[in-house]
Amino acid sequence: MAVERTLSIIKPDAVAKSVIGKILARFEQAGLNVVATKMLHLSEELAGGFYAEHKERPFYNDLVAFMTSGPVVVSVLEGENAVALNRELMGATNPKEAAEGTIRADFAETIDENAVHGSDSAASAEREVAYFFEDSEICPRTR
Ligand code: TYD
Ligand code: MG
Repeated sequence: MAVERTLSIIKPDAVAKSVIGKILARFEQAGLNVVATKMLHLSEELAGGFYAEHKERPFYNDLVAFMTSGPVVVSVLEGENAVALNRELMGATNPKEAAEGTIRADFAETIDENAVHGSDSAASAEREVAYFFEDSEICPRTR
């Protein structure tokens, strides 16, 4: 498996709980390098566009309202198998079903406010990284 990049978002609920550092530490402990990161307060347009694939789902409006309710931390994670590894660290979409020791099990309670986003495929990762970052904002390790 080659080195991959994936997009992570620490969502407004986790930022409000002051667990940004704890979540980033889990990525680093698992061997994922943070190669870009920034804090943003998403506009309705930016959040809605990001989740466009869910536009017809019943939870879409609430999801956009939640994602714009406070600041988020958007990061690019790089490492072997980064997309699947990040999804593993995150746990299931519904924190009540998330495996013990995962980010969602430890830092979230409900499916609608579930602490983190992670790209679900290499193709989504490429699109989502480009949605938030210019190439010049990504800083691969040199040492
Ligand atoms: P989805 O892409 O299915 O989950 P994941 O974040 O694990 O890739 O859904 C996107 C987000 O939409 C999810 O993180 C939380 C929200 N959501 C709900 O609020 N209710 C739901 O029933 C689902 C499926 C998702
Ligand atoms: Mg998804």
